[in-house]
Amino acid sequence: MGRPTIIVLVFLIQVCSLSSSSSNDHLHEGSSLSVDTEGNVLTSSDGTFSAGFHPVGQNAHAFAIWFNKPSCRDNCTVVWMANRDYPVNGRQSKLILTRHGNLILIDAGRITVWATDTVPHLSPAHLKLYDSGNLVLHDSTGATLRQSFDSPTDTLLPLQQLKKHGKLVSSRSRNNCSSGFFNLYFDSDNVLSLLYKGPEVSSIYWPSPWLLRWEVGRSTNNNSRIAVLDHLGKFSSTDNYTIKSADYGTRIQMGEGDDGCDGNMDGEDHRPNVGGAIRHGQDVGLARCSSPMCRRGQRCETNHG
Ligand SMILES: *[C@@H]1O[C@H](CO)[C@@H](O)[C@H](O)[C@H]1NC(C)=O
Ligand SMILES: *[C@@H]1O[C@H](CO)[C@@H](O)[C@H](O)[C@H]1NC(C)=O
Ligand SMILES: *[C@@H]1O[C@H](CO)[C@@H](O)[C@H](O)[C@H]1NC(C)=O
Ligand SMILES: *[C@@H]1O[C@H](CO)[C@@H](O)[C@H](O)[C@H]1NC(C)=O
Repeated sequence: MGRPTIIVLVFLIQVCSLSSSSSNDHLHEGSSLSVDTEGNVLTSSDGTFSAGFHPVGQNAHAFAIWFNKPSCRDNCTVVWMANRDYPVNGRQSKLILTRHGNLILIDAGRITVWATDTVPHLSPAHLKLYDSGNLVLHDSTGATLRQSFDSPTDTLLPLQQLKKHGKLVSSRSRNNCSSGFFNLYFDSDNVLSLLYKGPEVSSIYWPSPWLLRWEVGRSTNNNSRIAVLDHLGKFSSTDNYTIKSADYGTRIQMGEGDDGCDGNMDGEDHRPNVGGAIRHGQDVGLARCSSPMCRRGQRCETNHG
């Protein structure tokens, strides 16, 4: 009676350990990723995106998702960060999926700097990085508990929606990925707007506050407030704003000098930066909120006239 049971158990254990070692696009409950172990990352099944600890300064790391092709080390195009304003130590920092399905980021083995505070769910949960660049925490039925696409930093990937209460916040500078001063979000009049929110002053920067909404081609009557970038490089929003990347629909490539914080700086007439697109078989593009007056090779200005 006991013997067949034991045989089945051994078989199951072997199957489980095989499946967990042959794939690294997901993390199971009770496991972790460590800053100390080089290459301890999740990689989406086709290799397009990776998630792991990314250096953001001296002995400072962020848990990030980056575009993985061409293979990059220090100059990867980062598309999301969990803790952009609270970098963690280069030793003993970990991302842990706890036995209760809570995802936590621990700094130097001591302080929790970020957590999903996951609500009770059907256990066990698992974390999976998709080829779209979305990092999703699932319960045991496959339902979504949390996803990186719902909390963008400064970048939108194709088909990732900027929604009603969401915003993109520009990076501080080209070499500093922490939160900067420009917010791209839907204002209370349903219009997609760029707000300059500095330490002292705060004002709508785009579209121009001196022009009526219809004069700049915006509609105020759709309160679903969604903006999205398609796979060909067209960014559109429910206020009737659209913009196409310069190389729309054609061979789109990574903007030169893109260092993962700012995208290529082609933000002429104060538009959010769309483009900085990346090509790998199937094209991957991104829309990024960067300081609008920064242009390649020029100084950044934040005043507007
Ligand atoms: C980025 O800028 C913030 C705000 O000025 C600063 O606190 C932080 O130390 C900077 N980080 C790096 C890596 O320079
Ligand atoms: C949206 O823009 C198009 C052309 O750009 C225009 O024909 C249409 O009337 C606009 N719709 C609204 C609701 O403003
Ligand atoms: C608002 O935008 C959504 C999404 O694009 C669209 O499905 C809906 O028809 C729009 N509503 C109006 C009133 O234009
Ligand atoms: C990243 O760094 C490598 C090696 O230093 C370099 O060959 C490559 O052009 C860089 N890529 C970008 C986008 O800056």
